[in-house]
Amino acid sequence: MVALGLAERGDDPEPFPEALSADDAATMGVLRRAWDRREFRGRKRELTILHRPADGGRVALIGLGPRAAFSAETVRRAAAEVMRGLRGKGARSVGFVVASFLGEPVGPVAAVRALVDGSVLGGYEFVQYKSKPEPGVEEVSLHTAGIPGASEPELTSALEEQRTVAGTVVWTRERANLPADTATPARIAEEALALGREVGLKVTIFDEAKLSEMGCGGLLAVGGGSSHPPRMVVLEHAGKPPAHGEARTIVLVGKGITFDSGGISIKEAKSMSYMKFDKSGAMAVLGTMRAAALLGVAPRVVGILCCAENLPSGDAYRPGDLVRTFGGKTIEVLNTDAEGRVVMSDGLGYGVKTYRPDTIVDVATLTGAEVVALGDDTAGLVSTDDRLAAELLAASAVTGEPLWRMPLTDYHRELVRSEVGDVRNSIEIPLAGMLTAAAFLETFVDGARWAHLDIAGPAYTTITTRRYQPAYQGIGATAFGVRVLTRFLLDAAAAR
Ligand code: BES
Ligand code: MN
Ligand code: ZN
Repeated sequence: MVALGLAERGDDPEPFPEALSADDAATMGVLRRAWDRREFRGRKRELTILHRPADGGRVALIGLGPRAAFSAETVRRAAAEVMRGLRGKGARSVGFVVASFLGEPVGPVAAVRALVDGSVLGGYEFVQYKSKPEPGVEEVSLHTAGIPGASEPELTSALEEQRTVAGTVVWTRERANLPADTATPARIAEEALALGREVGLKVTIFDEAKLSEMGCGGLLAVGGGSSHPPRMVVLEHAGKPPAHGEARTIVLVGKGITFDSGGISIKEAKSMSYMKFDKSGAMAVLGTMRAAALLGVAPRVVGILCCAENLPSGDAYRPGDLVRTFGGKTIEVLNTDAEGRVVMSDGLGYGVKTYRPDTIVDVATLTGAEVVALGDDTAGLVSTDDRLAAELLAASAVTGEPLWRMPLTDYHRELVRSEVGDVRNSIEIPLAGMLTAAAFLETFVDGARWAHLDIAGPAYTTITTRRYQPAYQGIGATAFGVRVLTRFLLDAAAAR
């Protein structure tokens, strides 16, 4: 099967597109006749499949929508629509004709990257638990013939790099989609160890005995109610030796709540159904570490996963508890459902004290308030450093994982101050929930150059939300963060 992109046509007669000409010969004029009859309009998501009598093959035409709104994201989505649309239709392989996906402002390199993203991610489905999965497309190729002004080595290296990134997103989704009975903190630690052996990362696991020795009271408090004890997992990528000056160290910290019932401050049933995805921040960091190793990014990168299960039991932490975290700062617990920030306190504290990083970025499905504010496609970005925020926004613009910067002021800091401890994990009334959570986290970064990504919205899709999402997000875990953070690491220089 060959796949071609087609921009939306107006009502006026338009000449038969150049990009379709080669295939028109193979279809014995079917394409041209279909064009003349206006069988397809090129509207967004419109998929038309035609036969090629000459060789028994098929041609898929995917609508790109209006030329004026064309972007790399258009191509990413279109490629995913093709993969989704062909599932169960007996197509084993698809060849995308790159030339048909070009046009201002998308050049050959951007088109190749977007086609790789869209086809790999759009072709993915979590089928481990299906006895009879519907067969999808198994093989994707990109036809680069007839691209003006593109250098073959440049296209090949973009393709290889993007294949690694998109493959890592799939790898991450496979793990992030696992249910909580399987993806326990100990299992996540094992996955990290296996990854470290495979791609060459140094991996250290801190179990509950070690966490207790270290004073990681946050992880121990939140994990206390579960029979699956907490783990802190640390992965290290050495980076390239800098040409001059100090090596740059970037620490990434992820929230790894394997299931969030809310604990003693228990959630209502309907808010609980997707809470196996509350480990998505940690999974995004794990995936980013994989990509960092495979691509050999320049900076030294350390990934820290804060893994625990939040359940109510006789051993669970309670509202009113005062928790002493790594480094000694204390948390007044007002709501056990604000558990993410409690486990992150240990990871952030450990990260800044152990590695003295130039930059620390945390990723967490932290607040329902983020979903209310920004919806389920965009992550909230909070940073006290304008340059770091700009770097992350630039990576976001290229990769198409949307971030939106939100403010952090003394007002939010004041709201989380505790009367009896250093900081409180919740306030009595819902006020700027995403930002008070960020103010809480800031307490533990000790003045480091820091950014926070609240991915509660975009971390997963549901049966309801998937129809509003691009086809490449699929259903379930999206592994949001892997693409934007990998781009961020690739663009970060080894020394500053
Ligand atoms: N894991 C949730 C946040 C969440 C909500 C993620 C919806 C994905 C989708 C988090 O632990 C939580 O429960 N946050 C509370 C905090 C509140 C108690 C201060 C929230 O946002 O309601
Ligand atoms: Mn919670
Ligand atoms: Zn949570």
